[in-house]
Amino acid sequence: MYFYYIMPDEFTVTPWEVKGKVDYDKLIIQFGTQKITEELKHKIKNLTGGELHVMLRRNIFFSHRDLDLVIEDYEKGKGFFLYTGRAPSLGMHIGHLIPFIFTKWLQDKFKVNVYIEVTDDEKFLRNQEYTLDQTRSWAYDNILDIIAVGFDPDRTFIFQDTEYIRNMYPIAIKIAKKLTFSEIRATFGLETSSNIGIIFYPALQIAPTMFEKKRCLIPAGIDQDPYWRLQRDIAESLGYYKAAQIHSKFLPPLTGPEGKMSSSNPETAIYLSDDPKTVEKKIMKYAFSGGQPTIELHRKYGGNPEIDVAFQWLYYFFEEDDNKIKKIEEDYRSGKMLTGELKQILIEKLNDFLEEHRRKREEAKKLLHVFKYDGKLASEMWQKVHE
Ligand code: TYM
Repeated sequence: MYFYYIMPDEFTVTPWEVKGKVDYDKLIIQFGTQKITEELKHKIKNLTGGELHVMLRRNIFFSHRDLDLVIEDYEKGKGFFLYTGRAPSLGMHIGHLIPFIFTKWLQDKFKVNVYIEVTDDEKFLRNQEYTLDQTRSWAYDNILDIIAVGFDPDRTFIFQDTEYIRNMYPIAIKIAKKLTFSEIRATFGLETSSNIGIIFYPALQIAPTMFEKKRCLIPAGIDQDPYWRLQRDIAESLGYYKAAQIHSKFLPPLTGPEGKMSSSNPETAIYLSDDPKTVEKKIMKYAFSGGQPTIELHRKYGGNPEIDVAFQWLYYFFEEDDNKIKKIEEDYRSGKMLTGELKQILIEKLNDFLEEHRRKREEAKKLLHVFKYDGKLASEMWQKVHE
């Protein structure tokens, strides 16, 4: 019954698992989404002061639904809003930041509201061993990392499901009434033995797409797509827009180009809390190399940046300068640059990034209340009951 999103023997993409080497062009066909064309990028560039975020320029955000309509609404003055989220865990890794960094850029450029759902309920329900106290404390911790990305405090509302549920409940039950157990079971691979909380949960991930009577644009990894397909089936019957999305690829794990970086496998990930020595050790020891086994062979045949994880991470966003990344690619491919040298570039970039992130994370502690309760948008949201 996983017919929507499993391609046997090749790769698997579900909200809980990414396995194998993902063929993103195939995924566009399988999921029925649209490729982000050069024409669409050009349109966005015209609206953002001639600037395109590195993740758009390099097709890390590669697929969409109705992004063209969002742009049209914006041009007509109807506006739109942004929505993204996070299921809290003990420590975020750098892959988790991708949608947040990009969402912040969109907010800066289009000056729109951002809603960030932190699903302490989802995490609790999905794992028998986790307590609600744990998932709530991870929510606190992860929210600091999210605030550190730099969202606009007047236009951003970060909420935890177990706290904001009262305001969402009316719309959530309207959504729930439109979805059958068999649809949810087929879409998410649930069983009749699944707990009833997780069966209801999709209504809560869909609810924020209906926080405003404008088009909602969701920047997220493409693994979250099954929720949006359900949303699009029912939104109009409830008087809302079908949610638009912009999907990203997955930052590959340290250990190789297959799958995605995952919290459950610590040697595959760099955590936002990893100190400089740990970063260096992990990259040197685990980062999968596209280089040759000996220096002589490497000088002769060169490295393969397509499978080299250090290169891929630089390409995803750690080396934003297009000329520099091109030079690194050429030098690595020709054998002029060795694997160790490439890894060293990444280690420096990563450690600079993490140091700055942690500085902002400290400052975030003072802003927590603004984003969750007292800020301009946050206080408006606590006054609203979503119907
Ligand atoms: P979660 O916590 O698994 O993931 C949070 C976001 O991070 C993306 N992501 C990645 N992106 C790039 N590379 C990776 N290696 C990587 N790993 C994770 C995910 O695609 C996601 O965008 N159910 C959701 C929480 C949620 C949500 C939302 C997410 C609630 N509402 C709205 C997106 C939009 C979850 O478990 O996310």
